[in-house]
Amino acid sequence: MESDPVGSDPVGSDPAESDPDESMSGSRSGAEVLPAGPIDWGHLSVLRDECVAGLQPRSGGCYLDATLGAGGHTAALLAADPEVRVVGLDCDDRALAIAQERLAPWGARVTFVRSNFAQFNPGDQQFDGILADLGVSSMQFDQPDRGFSFRHDGPLDMRMDDRLTESAADVVNHWQEVPLANAIYTYGEERLSRRIARAIVEQRQTQPFQTTLELANAIARCVPGKYRHGRIHPATRTFQALRIVVNQELAVLETLLDRAPNWLAPQGRLAVISFHSLEDRIVKHRLRESTQLKVITKKPICPSDTEMGQNSRSRSAKLRIAEKI
Ligand SMILES: C[S@@+](CC[C@H](N)C(=O)[O-])C[C@H]1O[C@@H](n2cnc3c(N)ncnc32)[C@H](O)[C@@H]1O
Repeated sequence: MESDPVGSDPVGSDPAESDPDESMSGSRSGAEVLPAGPIDWGHLSVLRDECVAGLQPRSGGCYLDATLGAGGHTAALLAADPEVRVVGLDCDDRALAIAQERLAPWGARVTFVRSNFAQFNPGDQQFDGILADLGVSSMQFDQPDRGFSFRHDGPLDMRMDDRLTESAADVVNHWQEVPLANAIYTYGEERLSRRIARAIVEQRQTQPFQTTLELANAIARCVPGKYRHGRIHPATRTFQALRIVVNQELAVLETLLDRAPNWLAPQGRLAVISFHSLEDRIVKHRLRESTQLKVITKKPICPSDTEMGQNSRSRSAKLRIAEKI
């Protein structure tokens, strides 16, 4: 058992630029074969090989996967060398349960910790590499009862960690119109934020929002026809904003990027995959401004056409890597 003393629960151990980047060197691969089980984990790890190449797992090294999810990146790190160990964090207990099952073949080489990465405290432990693959997983996104997506109807929740007190329904039903509009504008980069916030406030007076489809339909009704039939659903940006607000995604990312350099051993690497420009801007600047890190990726690494074809979620991914000086 591994316990994060600050605000986390031990889960148990054991069982907007986009050019391809400079090349990586010195990576290992494939010392073990990834166990191929009958289970469909429903989540393809984005830029998996590029992360392993960038982190350069070394025999005997210990790595922190700050966003364990279904454990795909961790599995690849463990497979890179039989002496690699990984501490895997996730704030979502359902994700951890799936990762524990998937990673069981690696036994005590993986330690599972339930924690928000912003509250993680490794004590004196130093890592040879740290990975953060930001945002929600496809598993979370595709589960209607998590409320992240308007592709299915479900409770308007959006909490990655069910210990958080404010859900998306709380935000849309209780925030005042101006802060709501500001959040939709800032975190969704939605130019119709004021119109959408007004429509939300008006509709909730008759009937508070309970489900994803109620909200998505209300947004679709309040925007001009041209917008309604555009490239993306008119609720997409508002849903992104709400998710960021509920999980404080940008604030926790900033905390992680401030603290992670202290958790790295010399020459240890920090690899971060972001999925939208708000995240990528923070990653790019924090890595560049850190006095403890040297940026390895002058430009972010992006998925190949093949990966984008196989996994549409990877399309907006950007991987940036820095090394502890
Ligand atoms: C994109 S998925 C990671 C997928 C994983 N790399 C894989 O290959 O399966 C992100 C995961 O990180 C978790 N997560 C997101 N933000 C977090 C945070 N601040 N602290 C801890 N876990 C977080 C989510 O619950 C989710 O399970």
